[in-house]
Amino acid sequence: MEKKFSFQTHLLHNKWKVDEQTGAVSVPIQHASTFHQFDFDTFGKYDYSRSGNPTREALEDTIAELEGGVRGFAFASGMAAISTAFLLLSKGDHVLITEDVYGGTYRMITEVLSRFGIEYTFVDMTDLHEVACHIRPNTKVIYVETPSNPLLKITDIRGIVKLAKANGCLTFLDNTFMTPALQRPLELGVDVVLHSATKFLSGHSDVVAGLAVVKDEELANRLYKLQNAFGAVLGVQDAWLVLRGLKTLHVRLQQSTQSALKIANFLAKHPKVEEVYYPGLSYHPGHSVHRYQAEGPGAVLSFRLADEEAVRTFVKHAKIPVFAVSLGAVESILSYPAKMSHAAMPKEERERRGITDGLLRLSVGLEAADDLISDFERALSYVKEKRRSKLPS
Ligand SMILES: Cc1ncc(COP(=O)(O)O)c(C=O)c1O
Repeated sequence: MEKKFSFQTHLLHNKWKVDEQTGAVSVPIQHASTFHQFDFDTFGKYDYSRSGNPTREALEDTIAELEGGVRGFAFASGMAAISTAFLLLSKGDHVLITEDVYGGTYRMITEVLSRFGIEYTFVDMTDLHEVACHIRPNTKVIYVETPSNPLLKITDIRGIVKLAKANGCLTFLDNTFMTPALQRPLELGVDVVLHSATKFLSGHSDVVAGLAVVKDEELANRLYKLQNAFGAVLGVQDAWLVLRGLKTLHVRLQQSTQSALKIANFLAKHPKVEEVYYPGLSYHPGHSVHRYQAEGPGAVLSFRLADEEAVRTFVKHAKIPVFAVSLGAVESILSYPAKMSHAAMPKEERERRGITDGLLRLSVGLEAADDLISDFERALSYVKEKRRSKLPS
């Protein structure tokens, strides 16, 4: 990225600002699946759109620039990006993975990769000692989500990178919750950054997309081969939608982060809310590590009510947010991890990780924070007061 511009300006003022052939101020959508070869012996830059397409390339170059990488790759979904990156592994390799990882990633590892002889261990990545203890001679990847989904646990990225490098492993990091506007893991030594671009990067709940970025040419070549071989590439209309969403990334995240902090403080003081998980709260266990490695706490928080009944009542009476799977959009989204993002996880595994039946996740959108707070205050007034049963003496 050219250093003379701030990230905010760079989102708009970049190589794709104006189409060189026509002057168009929006990247042209190139629908062609195949490209005429003008010379029998020397093929042009593009031959077939699975292997390369100018519109997808504009997005791939843009995300590479924003993350500070050498090359980006666009996929049909976040899971396609994550799964393709996992194809860097071979039979007999071992992955160390963060405990409260996104449910789809959990499913990919435990139900799919395991069938191909890839071993895995889930660890609490807030504890570097725990991570170090579980590294094996065949560990090839340490897989991080920070903040994690849905408990917003913070992993010390620099600490993990140090361990990974000392043990000859790659570090993969899912940067979906932060985006490069708030956290640039490649600059901290991470090898592969992954995104569900379905979320903040596109920002409008109207596209499913995934991205991967690397900063090493050799790794880029290996990942390109896998992208082309596996073939789960992003369509051109969707690539264009992500490019358009990116233009407003900074302003959307800035506004939503401000509101999230206000809402987290409101919820934390409410007697019917048992716990609030948000890295912007000074008493969040990962607050200081997060501040050291990221530029803001982001727009996602989780909170715990007493039980499923309390959640049902709250969701029924909250009028502003949509109740839906997903996050990172202009509208606020309330999700129920137990039945949504983490439904793929067995109940006992889920609860052991703190994803209980009383947990709700909120992705704060662009509505006025005070309107959201009034809405939640009203919804909470319908939630029954729980009398805690006295402990036996
Ligand atoms: C943190 C995180 N990573 C990856 C994914 C998967 O992305 P997609 O739904 O675009 O496949 C999600 C989806 O919710 C997610 O929240």
